[in-house]
Amino acid sequence: MNILDVISARRSIKQFTDRPISNEAIEQLLSAAVLAPNHRMTEPWRFYVMGPEARTGFGKALGLRKAKRVDEPDAKSAVIEKVQATHRALPAMLAVATTLDDNPEIREEDYAATYMAIQNLCLAAHSLGLGTHVKSGGVMNDPVAREAMGIREGERVIATIAVGEPAAVPDPKPRHSADEFTTWVP
Ligand SMILES: Cc1cc2nc3c(=O)[nH]c(=O)nc-3n(C[C@H](O)[C@H](O)[C@H](O)COP(=O)(O)O)c2cc1C
Repeated sequence: MNILDVISARRSIKQFTDRPISNEAIEQLLSAAVLAPNHRMTEPWRFYVMGPEARTGFGKALGLRKAKRVDEPDAKSAVIEKVQATHRALPAMLAVATTLDDNPEIREEDYAATYMAIQNLCLAAHSLGLGTHVKSGGVMNDPVAREAMGIREGERVIATIAVGEPAAVPDPKPRHSADEFTTWVP
């Protein structure tokens, strides 16, 4: 598949089939991820392949956060259980962390490089017929979620990625054309 076709056909996939994802497939995606550019060859990415226990623990941490917005106790429990079950049922899930250099300039570059690795992974997945959904947000820094994901000290979690065979592929989201964001400087 041509890379431009892969870029334009990739979507964030929210529904997956039950087909299990092999460790070999995950390894293939990670091998693509680590080819991303990175200044000074810091290789700042750290990947955590989350098994069912880790996914359930993460789902609980996320569910607890979502439940804070709900008043009724039964509804709270239902939210936690639903988020937990949804994460447990994912065919595969990764947490992606980046190392935290003491130098703020390097730290920023390392964050950027790690997102380039994430995009490599998502495009590689699409080319292999797999879907991905990258997510971020406050839960990345939640101590309960970090514990569930097995994150080491001195790393910042910047995304989770659900991986699986797509059960449904959403339509493309409307986007502006590049020329609306582009200035050609003489
Ligand atoms: C840094 C980052 C964080 C994201 N966080 C979330 C998220 O928390 N929840 C979610 O549903 N999607 C999340 N997404 C996916 C975007 O919503 C999605 O990429 C966007 O809607 C465009 O859709 P597409 O990926 O299918 O083109 C995130 C994407 C990025 C790059």
